[in-house]
Amino acid sequence: MVYQIYPRSFQDANDDGIGDLRGLIERLDYLNDGTEQSLGVDAIWLSPVFESPMADFGYDISDYRAIDPVFGTMEDFDALLAAAHQRDIRIVIDLVLNHTSSLHPWFIESADAESEKADWYLWYEGEEPPNNWLSCFGGTGWSWHNTRKAWYFHSFLPEQPDLNWRNPAVKQAIREMMEFWLDKGVDGFRLDVANLYFKSAGLESNPVDVFRIGRPYDRQFHRYDRDQPELHALYREMRQWVDAYDDRMMVGEIMIADIDNATIPASYCGNNDQLHLTFNFEMLRAPFDASTFRQIIAKWIDLLGPENWPNYTLSNHDVKRHVFRYGTGPGGHQRARLAACLLLTVRGTPFLYYGEEIGMPEQRVARDDIQDPVGKYYWPLYPGRDGCRRPMMWNYPNNHFTQGISWLPDEPVDGHSVTQQTDNPNSLLSWYRKLIWLRKRTPALNKGDVQLLDSDEELLVYERRHLAKRILILLNFSANCRTFPLNEESIAQCLANSDAENPSLNYEHNELMLGGYQALVLELYPD
Ligand code: GLC
Repeated sequence: MVYQIYPRSFQDANDDGIGDLRGLIERLDYLNDGTEQSLGVDAIWLSPVFESPMADFGYDISDYRAIDPVFGTMEDFDALLAAAHQRDIRIVIDLVLNHTSSLHPWFIESADAESEKADWYLWYEGEEPPNNWLSCFGGTGWSWHNTRKAWYFHSFLPEQPDLNWRNPAVKQAIREMMEFWLDKGVDGFRLDVANLYFKSAGLESNPVDVFRIGRPYDRQFHRYDRDQPELHALYREMRQWVDAYDDRMMVGEIMIADIDNATIPASYCGNNDQLHLTFNFEMLRAPFDASTFRQIIAKWIDLLGPENWPNYTLSNHDVKRHVFRYGTGPGGHQRARLAACLLLTVRGTPFLYYGEEIGMPEQRVARDDIQDPVGKYYWPLYPGRDGCRRPMMWNYPNNHFTQGISWLPDEPVDGHSVTQQTDNPNSLLSWYRKLIWLRKRTPALNKGDVQLLDSDEELLVYERRHLAKRILILLNFSANCRTFPLNEESIAQCLANSDAENPSLNYEHNELMLGGYQALVLELYPD
């Protein structure tokens, strides 16, 4: 299980209001102290901590080999790596390779058309930008550079110029940088916007669907500024760089439009010779609905094929937290428990987002407090991503995130703190811990096959199998009771029941009955 940490918001050790590496080290026991009292995290995906002007909070890197002082020093990073490894926690760092900061020395040098790095970014000399490519963060993707007297392309902010991946020197520099971190002992890389590196050499304009609702960026078909065929060869090469080291991995973030599906992310795994994992964002936008999840899972398994390993995630630092998406009204707590059960029992690596284990809610951020550049640009149409990046709620009524002034509002919310949930066996945190440790010690759950079973359309039912061990997972996505044909004699034991108040199983006419939003993990007798 991988746990994503947005480091600005996890734990502040030096009281400047921003989370840091020392703070994270202090919290490692919470993540995994080797006992079932801790969360049992196997790996941390750490959002960027490299030196950065923070125009996009670290996703604009000005030095790939230095830690930003806001987060600490390289010694702190080394201490984190050692302390994490001591606890069997791996560290996956977040590499932003599509673009750098405009303050990266590479870009500064590249602004001189005579320099060695003149061709390291996507420059266009002309009166007008060459095409209609847009910035995902709003406005045109082409900005004028006054020194070079040319346009440069940025898929995101003007402060995030895109690298020219067609230049072999860029590839070599990135390779050496990745090897620097691999030599240091990091366990893997999360690759930011991994399907954007190449743009069409012909610089053709993207087709536009004028009738589509949404931001101008979403009305374009990104035929020429994403998913270029050259990328597969690059990933085959990169896979060899990484696999030259023992036991390391890459997980790619693949941007897909609403109309796209998982075919695109699956394609970047290739025949298990490109990226080890890719995120399937279909799941991040799926409604709370059994048949949608069933289809997504079935399609994902099918597209990945037997040679690739799936992964699942419901929340991250760019989208509204799933507790919010699935509704915090009546039944919200039960839906959160069901979602955890899905994530932690389906076949594939689960990626959790910090705070989801305590049901941390989204935060409303007033306009004046908005930090996210995307929120500033699109407000009020879209208030940005600050809401899902709120400081971790360690305690109540004082969050204990910082003694200083938090970079984002850190209002406490009663019931949603680690200390309030830690000793309560019925809390969401206890449920996550239970499922995580169950998964860890049960091969059928952590590596077994999966088979989706026919059921009432409001139920999602699947069986996990390893050797003779059979585990059945039943998830009732409806608020009402539902039944599944299964009699008492087939059940060896109930391993987990989301309905903490009514732990016994109910039957009606020889059928198993599930209450509203109930999730069950049952061990069946071998057949
Ligand atoms: C990815 C990151 C996001 C960032 C963007 C630009 O989508 O997840 O947070 O703003 O890339 O680097």
